[in-house]
Amino acid sequence: MIYFDNSATTKIEKTVLDTYNAASLNYFGNPSSLHKLGLKAYELLETSRKQIAELMGFKPYEVVFTSGGTEGNNWIIKGTAFKKREFGKHIITTSIEHPSVMNSMHQLEELGYEVTYLPVDKTGHVSLMI
Ligand SMILES: Cc1ncc(COP(=O)(O)O)c(C=O)c1O
Repeated sequence: MIYFDNSATTKIEKTVLDTYNAASLNYFGNPSSLHKLGLKAYELLETSRKQIAELMGFKPYEVVFTSGGTEGNNWIIKGTAFKKREFGKHIITTSIEHPSVMNSMHQLEELGYEVTYLPVDKTGHVSLMI
């Protein structure tokens, strides 16, 4: 298992922090801007995207950076629900999801989706019995 939720429960690795600090100090331009600082940041961002894609076995366009878990969850849950609605509007999740997931589900319910919330047992494992 690769655990990516480092900021929630684990002290950051020193090499990661050093790299973060170096990037923040030297590449602070907006990568969407056309000025020199922006282009420098853009190049670093795209190099990072390629490196991550290569490491993970993805194409660079499949690597998307988000501001955090809430944005990522909202984007993927609602984006998938809207894109695939022709296949059905029934979503199955669990009753113990993070609020960023729960609130996305509630919003989809308001938009006419049916959501099933599966219970979990005392160890957190999903129960298929409702
Ligand atoms: C499982 C899970 N999902 C989503 C989030 C929300 O992440 P963020 O605070 O980066 O928006 C958290 C934050 O703790 C989380 O633990």
